Amino acid sequence: MTVETVWVAAGTYLVMLAAFYLSRYRWLHIPIMVSVMLFDLAMPFYLYLTGDWYRRLIEHEEIFSFLIWMHVGLVFTLYALYFLQIQSARKIFRGDGEGRADHYSQAKAILLVRGLVLLTAALLVEPESTP
Ligand code: HEM
Repeated sequence: MTVETVWVAAGTYLVMLAAFYLSRYRWLHIPIMVSVMLFDLAMPFYLYLTGDWYRRLIEHEEIFSFLIWMHVGLVFTLYALYFLQIQSARKIFRGDGEGRADHYSQAKAILLVRGLVLLTAALLVEPESTP
């Protein structure tokens, strides 16, 4: 993971924040949220394909790092929240009033957890000069 990747991800955080506040415009809210979720789902594949994980995790023994596991745990929490968020969105479409309250409280959790995913990702960036 490079500093640039973290900056791009931070940019998507700002876009998500805008879509959060502009949720009344469904035509804007839904495509942005779906795109950010797809971005988050694609990120592990991108990192797997572009990084030398054998060197980092095994040779440099980063597999024993608490930070890595905290980051991975937060990512899975985020995916679980996304799943629940889609369920509550489906309830909103069906006209179920309960869905709206769930969707709103989960939205705040998503912003918090995604912020922590970004923060832990930034801490895991390897300095360029490391051999
Ligand atoms: C597949 C993804 C999503 C779909 C289909 C979806 C759909 C919707 C819909 C239909 C509404 C009601 C809009 C209206 O007022 O007419 C809504 C509201 C909202 N959404 Fe989403 N959403 C998605 C993801 C997210 C995510 C990831 C977040 C937060 C990070 C979020 C935050 C909100 C908020 C804060 C509201 C306002 C809730 C309220 O009325 O109290 N949504 N969403």
